[in-house]
Formats: sequence, structure tokens, C-alpha cells
Amino acid sequence: MKTEILGTDGASLDRAAELLTRGAVVAVPTETVYGLAANAFDEKAVRRIFEAKGRPADNPLIVHIADISYLEKLSPCVPELAYKCAEAFWAGPLTMILPKKDIIPSVTSGGLDTVGIRMPVDKTARAIIKRCGFALAAPSANVSGSPSPTTFRHVYEDMNGRISAIVDGGDCSVGVESTVISFDDNKIRVLRPGFISPEELSEIADTVIDKGVLEQLGADAVVRSPGMKYKHYAPKADVTIIDSDRDSFKHYVRKNSDDATMLMVFSEADCEGLDIEFIEYGETAEEQAKRLFTSLRTLDELGAEKVYARCPKKSGVGLAVYNRLLRAAGFKVVRL
Ligand code: TXA
Ligand code: MG
Repeated sequence: MKTEILGTDGASLDRAAELLTRGAVVAVPTETVYGLAANAFDEKAVRRIFEAKGRPADNPLIVHIADISYLEKLSPCVPELAYKCAEAFWAGPLTMILPKKDIIPSVTSGGLDTVGIRMPVDKTARAIIKRCGFALAAPSANVSGSPSPTTFRHVYEDMNGRISAIVDGGDCSVGVESTVISFDDNKIRVLRPGFISPEELSEIADTVIDKGVLEQLGADAVVRSPGMKYKHYAPKADVTIIDSDRDSFKHYVRKNSDDATMLMVFSEADCEGLDIEFIEYGETAEEQAKRLFTSLRTLDELGAEKVYARCPKKSGVGLAVYNRLLRAAGFKVVRL
């Protein structure tokens, strides 16, 4: 399949909407990561997303809307708490899991009777949804299992030849996927941490962090979000997180590194005096969120076999960074 490369001018957005209306799959930028979009109500179109991505059929897609009034079109009962969250954090990187109406085909929801709904703030994403006039189902635009795409180049590498078009909207500003929440008994449950932090959510209502965010779920565990059970964000290199201060990090890597080892550090100061290749992924949690997935892809490009990563802080947006890095590392953490 020839993949058209589109820009963000009016004619390009018209073309993207035209393709989507015909049931095609188009990669579109959002503030978090690029999404692989298709008409959420069109079963055939949605199947094409699963094919292009190589995604397991039981892993549901997020449905993207551009207008809050759509909530009631998609869900038969929207709790008061969902409206409060929407008011506080939409448009933005927050996905709410709600009971679904039949208008959403079961392929879109991975066979579940719930649906994840998000209203992105990104201008291009919104303009495309508005032009379409229907909601867009969109998972991250990577091949299943690899790091989510935060630049046009990432999407091109994974999807060229597999989908109808890619809209080049430059680099994503947030860099990690949306916060996914569900509601039980007037509580917010964080199923996947993102830019909207548990601390911010707890200003709206009691907030619990699901066990699957920080722990590897056993075979018999309750999986509230199917995405949690799949291997994710995994570069080819064998990644280990070193949870320690700078000096202990340096001491550990000096003792345990070889020729094919690379370091993933906050800044150069973390590896001063060490003769080991490194990449910097930023000092603040926001920078780290923005650079994490690019860094994981770069490690592969550089042929790293073993990687030691400094551990992000586990609060605020840092929790999202830690959650993704944990999966990239297959949950290997050395605590010093
Ligand atoms: O920022 C984002 O959320 C991006 C952009 C494109 O919007 N999308 C994204 O989609 O990250 P995806 O498919 O890569 O991740 C969606 C996650 C998966 O872990 C999935 O299992 C979970 O959300 N999810 C979706 N619908 C769900 C549902 N009904 N119940 C529980 N979990 C759900
Ligand atoms: Mg994904």
C-alpha cells in the first residue's frame, strides 16, 4: 500500500478526513503520541487498525471525540464524577473508561462492555475529528510491542506501506500516552498513569492507583485494563532500572558494564568520569516524558545490548515515565 504523507494545512486535513470517511486508517498527531485512527463506528475500518499494528484483538482502542456532548452518544450512563474530570482535564491527555453503547462495535472495545473515551487538545487531531463528524478509534501508532511514536519519523518507520496516510504534525508535546482512569464507588482508579497525575486527580475525588501500574501482574490477577498484561515499549536491548542516588548508580555501572553497555541518564553529570556511551533523557519529569520513547528507539539504533537507566521519580508525571520504563525493562529494577 502506498502511504500518503500529509501536512496540517486545510487541504491535507480535508484529505485525511476523506480517507477516514472511506474507512481507511490514517496516523494523526495528538499531544501525547501519534494515533492510528479509523472510524470508531466502522467495524471493517477498525479491523484494519488491528492488522496494521499487529495488535491482539482483546486489547481495546480509545475512542477520540472533539466535543463533550459526544459522551452521551457513546455511553448510556455517564457518572457525575466523569463530568467533573472532563471539566477539569478536557480537552487533554485523560481517557475515561465508561459503559459503552451498542453504537460502538465490539471490535473497537476489544469485546468489553466498556469504552475508553478521550478528547485530545491537539489542534490537528481536533480539526480532523471535527471534519469527519464521527469519533475516531486510535491506539498509539506503533507496531504492537515497540515504543509509542512521538515524532513523524517514528510513525513512518513503523507504518509506511501499512496504512493509507500519515499526517505530519511535528513532535508530540507531552510524549507519554494519556492517563487512563475508571470509576468505582465515587473513586477514581488510575489504570495507566500519564501527564494528568494522580495528585491532580485526587483534587477531584479519592484516587487509587491500580496494582498493575507498578507491579507485574501474575497469570491469575484481575486485569482491569488489557494493555497492562502485554509486553510493551521494549527495545531490543536488555534494560535494567537502577533505583539509587547518582554516586551509587556510577559505582554500580562501573562494576557491571561491558563494551555493549549504554547508559540512560538524566544528564551528563550522571556519568562524568565513566567511559561508557550514554544518552540523556532529561532532568525534569516533563522532559523525561517527552524524550523517553525517542530515547528507547535511539538505544536500538545505536545497537545497545545492555542498558542501565537512572530511575525517574515516581510522583507526578514521573509516575508515567517510571511505568513505561518498568515495562521496557521487563520489570528489572536494582534498588541500591
Ligand atoms: O494518549 C493516548 O492515549 C494515545 C493517543 C493516540 O490518544 N492512545 C493510546 O492508545 O495510547 P493505546 O491503544 O496504545 O492504549 C490504550 C490503553 C490500552 O492499555 C488499553 O488496554 C486501555 O487503554 N483501554 C482502552 N479501552 C479500555 C477499556 N474499555 N477498559 C480498560 N482499558 C482500556
Ligand atoms: Mg499503545
